Amino acid sequence: LITPVLLCGGSGTRLWPLSRKSYPKQFVPLVGEETLFQASARRLSGAAAGLEFAAPVVLTNSDFRFIVAEQLQAVGIDPGAILIEPEGRNTAPAVLAAALRAHAEDPDAVLLVAPSDHVVPDVAAFHAAVARGLEAVAQGQLVTFGITPTHPETAYGYLELASGSNSDGAPVALKKFVEKPDLARATEMLDAGNFKWNAGIFLFRASDMIGAFRTHAPELMAPVEAAVETATPDLGFLRLNPEPWGQAEDISIDYAVMEKATNLSVVPFDAAWSDLGGWDAVWRESGPDADGVVTSGGATAIDCHNALLRSDSDQLELVGIGLENIIAVAMNDAVLVADSSRAQDVKKAVSALKEKG
Ligand code: GDD
Ligand code: MG
Repeated sequence: LITPVLLCGGSGTRLWPLSRKSYPKQFVPLVGEETLFQASARRLSGAAAGLEFAAPVVLTNSDFRFIVAEQLQAVGIDPGAILIEPEGRNTAPAVLAAALRAHAEDPDAVLLVAPSDHVVPDVAAFHAAVARGLEAVAQGQLVTFGITPTHPETAYGYLELASGSNSDGAPVALKKFVEKPDLARATEMLDAGNFKWNAGIFLFRASDMIGAFRTHAPELMAPVEAAVETATPDLGFLRLNPEPWGQAEDISIDYAVMEKATNLSVVPFDAAWSDLGGWDAVWRESGPDADGVVTSGGATAIDCHNALLRSDSDQLELVGIGLENIIAVAMNDAVLVADSSRAQDVKKAVSALKEKG
């Protein structure tokens, strides 16, 4: 039995204006009809490929709690628990909280931590990869999933494989974990050939993860333990105690544990995967037509090439004529028009707007 732990506290600023602080990308139908969060929850439910998933544990913040509950209900998934983080402390405290809680209930608990904003179209291939990871988990390994890199991405973690990846997809020992390298280092790792991207999905026994925190991030133990032990039920949610929680360091699991742990294994995952880290990724995952055009929400493209035209507005018509390499997204209260090569700079627009107030 595997307990899915869904992380959905992030705000996804690179997909502005669709993704908002109050309603981030994981809760919006970006590719297809379901939201990414719903698709993630469904991918990790029921029984498949010899796997059986327990009811998911969701970690989110106060603002998103009702969205989470509603969206799970809409796809018929009953959550095991929805934990509310009084404030975002990034993924390390969140993962530790889930591990401590699961371990208190069942000392043998196996958890699968997953972001809620990824696109993984081949669910069967994903389940098969998880099943392969279980053999390493039984030996006390923390398992990560490795994607074959295609470009020197600086927004991902890199996994250096100890030996070449086996063609049977079996777990490979990890030599080194490098979180978000600079471009020079990313290029080196891409050229070296024995690196994978970290998919950001982790499979482990709760006890092993707690052990890793004890060794590599001991300062997180006391505040997170206290926040979990004194959590209060609140209308069907479980609210972590704000006081100790506020004392936990704001740090990601990648920096706190993965870069330091020595018991890591990588399961190569060669099927399609995307973290939809920007509008360029949404364009790619939405299946552009022969001209490279994606339109949605009633937007109209005339003689356009390599363009994403999306209108989520019920008041604005969006029409593009003769556009090349353009991303245009219209909402009722905001319109983004950007050169495709600048998709990552949307983050800057959000900071600039924040400063303007
Ligand atoms: N509950 C909760 N609380 N969830 C959070 C928080 C938090 O404070 N912060 C982030 N999350 C959620 C996000 O919503 C997302 O689903 C997931 O945790 C990962 O966080 P990101 O902020 O998206 O991480 P990243 O994309 O920069 O990097 C991670 O993912 C990459 C692959 O997408 C790392 O694990 C990289 O190594 C990896 O390559
Ligand atoms: Mg991400």
